Amino acid sequence: MSPTRSSDVLVLGGGIIGLVTAWRAAQRGFATAVVDPEPGGGAAQVAAGMLAAVTELHYGEQTLLGLNLASARRYPGFAAELTEVTGLDVGYRQCGTLAVALDADDRAHLRELHALQRESGLDSEWLSGRDCRRLEPMLAPGVRGGLRVDGDHQIDPRRLAKALVTACERAGVVFHRVWATGLAVAHGRAAGCVTEDGTLLPAGQVVLATGSLSGQLNGVPRDVLPPVRPVKGQVLRLSVPRRHAPFLSRTVRAMVRGSQVYLVPREDGELVVGATSEEQGWDTTVTAGGVYELLRDAHELVPGITELPLTETRAGLRPGSPDNAPLLGPTELDGLLLATGHYRNGVLLTPVTGDALAHALATGELTEEARPFSPKRFALTEQPV
Ligand code: GLY
Repeated sequence: MSPTRSSDVLVLGGGIIGLVTAWRAAQRGFATAVVDPEPGGGAAQVAAGMLAAVTELHYGEQTLLGLNLASARRYPGFAAELTEVTGLDVGYRQCGTLAVALDADDRAHLRELHALQRESGLDSEWLSGRDCRRLEPMLAPGVRGGLRVDGDHQIDPRRLAKALVTACERAGVVFHRVWATGLAVAHGRAAGCVTEDGTLLPAGQVVLATGSLSGQLNGVPRDVLPPVRPVKGQVLRLSVPRRHAPFLSRTVRAMVRGSQVYLVPREDGELVVGATSEEQGWDTTVTAGGVYELLRDAHELVPGITELPLTETRAGLRPGSPDNAPLLGPTELDGLLLATGHYRNGVLLTPVTGDALAHALATGELTEEARPFSPKRFALTEQPV
């Protein structure tokens, strides 16, 4: 296919959200292309990959909970399908999560979370400190209690991204390895994009899925531009030598002095420790302060981590939205759809986003479960003067 031949669907952004959209669109028979200088890159290269619908529940986010749970339920089939299509293991691990408390404030916070989970009909069990340590012997003696959530699992986002690139290739998706710099609009509808070298890539429909950059594309009308901002997360990777295994058997997390810290153990010995949450614009510097705070808090939870080799430090940008929920589907500009704003739940929401966008591309409508996440909820309204 020549680079300027028209696609049915042009996906701007080749992170996991753009890739899953392109894969599902191609499976429906759309001639699909992805525009990204480095497909499979982006926030998924940093993310820990927790599928934490229950342990990351917040007051006021019950609608988002429904979408998160729908996506979590899809994960076993989604991971199996990707492996069948690509031959690649995506690191889906049904390991569960233990959220623990180190002091009275943390415990009060966890008790509130437990009450909210129960009100929402979710499975979680309150454990004493001793029972937490029985499950995870590496936990600090000071752990005062915790919540056992056996339904919150994990996936390896780097493996997921690689498998999605392969799945797209196998489904005939074309990759344009350049930046999209502007949206092309013709006769009042999205008609493709312009790339950094000035090439016009025409398309029947365009999906904007450039994560934290989604609000930055030239040519998108102001009232359609997604209100997405970057929220920085610094993440560490350690490795558990064989002699220390099993170090942790499930994800362990806590709120320490008001900050979230989590430790996600992979089957291959990688231990991911995250994450800071910083409103710092486009900065992706790994700072001494960020690394210090993560190690300090993780060490309070699991003192043995200071023995482990520190193999990587990295920062990424979550695409934050005004209500912490994604923007999915058709916009007020015909031919332009959004798949962005997933904030802390991009990895978790990958399966359901692919299904919702494929349906929207085919029918012009969102699936019922995705309807509350229409970008139109942020439409600018005329202010009375
Ligand atoms: N969902 C974990 C994070 O965004 O840090």
